[in-house]
This record gives sequence, C-alpha cells and structure tokens, in this order.
Amino acid sequence: MQEIEQYRIREVKEHDLEGLIEMYMTLSERTLYFLRSNSFTPGEVREMHSRVDGEKIFSVVAVNDRKVLGEARLIRYSDTSAEFGIIVHDLYQNRGIGQALLKKIIEICREKRIKRLIGFCSEENEVALHIYKKYGFKVEKIIENHHSSMNGRVLRLSIHPNLVKS
Ligand SMILES: CC(C)(COP(=O)(O)OP(=O)(O)OC[C@H]1O[C@@H](n2cnc3c(N)ncnc32)[C@H](O)[C@@H]1OP(=O)(O)O)[C@@H](O)C(=O)NCCC(=O)NCCS
Repeated sequence: MQEIEQYRIREVKEHDLEGLIEMYMTLSERTLYFLRSNSFTPGEVREMHSRVDGEKIFSVVAVNDRKVLGEARLIRYSDTSAEFGIIVHDLYQNRGIGQALLKKIIEICREKRIKRLIGFCSEENEVALHIYKKYGFKVEKIIENHHSSMNGRVLRLSIHPNLVKS
C-alpha cells in the first residue's frame, strides 16, 4: 500500500481524465479479476469519461491532488432506478475509500430521488459483498451467465437509498 494522507471525494471534473487513465492502466490482475476479463484501454477510459453528463451518467472520484485513487459510476436506468460500480486502485484499497465513494453515490441517488440502486458483484468478491451488505444491500438474484465478463457467478444486489443503514 502507498501512503496517501488525505483524499477528497467529489464529482469528476474534466481535468481528471489523465489521472483516470493512469489509474485504469495500472490496475492489478487481482482487481481486474472482479471487474472483467480484459484490461482497460486509454481510449475506453476517455470514452467513459466523455459519457458523464450529470443527468444519466455520474462519476465520483477519490482524489489526492491530480492523482485519482478510485472511481464510482452511477448509471440511471430510469427516473427512479440506477446501477452503480466502484473501483479503488490497488495501492489505496482497504482504507475506507470504497465506502466513502459508495456513500457519495447514495447521496446523489437521494438528491435525484432514485428509489432503487442496483449493483452487480462476483460472489467471490468478499470485500465488495461485505461493504454492500454493511450498507443494507440485499441479494436479489444469482446470475449464472451475466453479460459482463465478470468472473464467477454474479450477484445482483439492491437497496432503496433512503433506507441505508450506515
Ligand atoms: C471493492 C472495493 C471497491 C472496496 O474498496 P476499498 O476502498 O478497498 O474498501 P474499504 O476500505 O472502504 O472497505 C473495506 C471493507 O472490507 C473489509 N474487508 C477487508 N478484507 C476483507 C475480506 N477478505 N473479507 C471480507 N471483508 C473484508 C474491511 O474490514 C472493510 O470493512 P469495515 O470498514 O467494515 O471494517 C475495492 O477493493 C476494489 O476496487 N476492488 C476491485 C474492484 C471491485 O471489486 N469492485 C467492485 C465490483 S462489484
């Protein structure tokens, strides 16, 4: 792990692109394992960044100066439902950043009156499952052949953002 004394959680900005590319390009195989079976490309990260519009697609980052330590994304399916995903770079995992990003996503959902927040997670992903259950997510469904290239069986979890425990 690397020493980072402090970080800020905020919505992504235009100038975060380079930091995001750096983060996504240096994820370990272990972290990628829980997300997908192939690496990210800089073009893909640029595309993901360009799609953030603050209406349908949101991105929240944990930053230290220009360094991006983690990102959570929220994709609205409808006026009242949305899906989220979180990544914290290997060097900064297990120090509360994932939970801080999740809290911010839940805050945005409350502001936007989202009533159903959904997350997908490999059933082997003990850390993510620990966090999601801690915040009150319930497993809705076990999906054998999820369309993403996430490894292992995939769980679909959801909460009502107004009923969050922590
Ligand atoms: C999942 C992820 C986002 C969590 O972010 P993080 O910053 O490391 O998480 P935090 O530090 O906020 O919280 C870690 C929690 O897991 C707990 N934990 C650590 N190792 C654990 C384990 N092996 N089993 C269960 N819980 C564990 C910690 O104790 C802590 O919980 P606590 O605050 O109740 O004590 C991050 O590990 C990650 O990016 N992983 C790879 C990508 C991924 O899996 N994304 C989610 C896809 S569904």
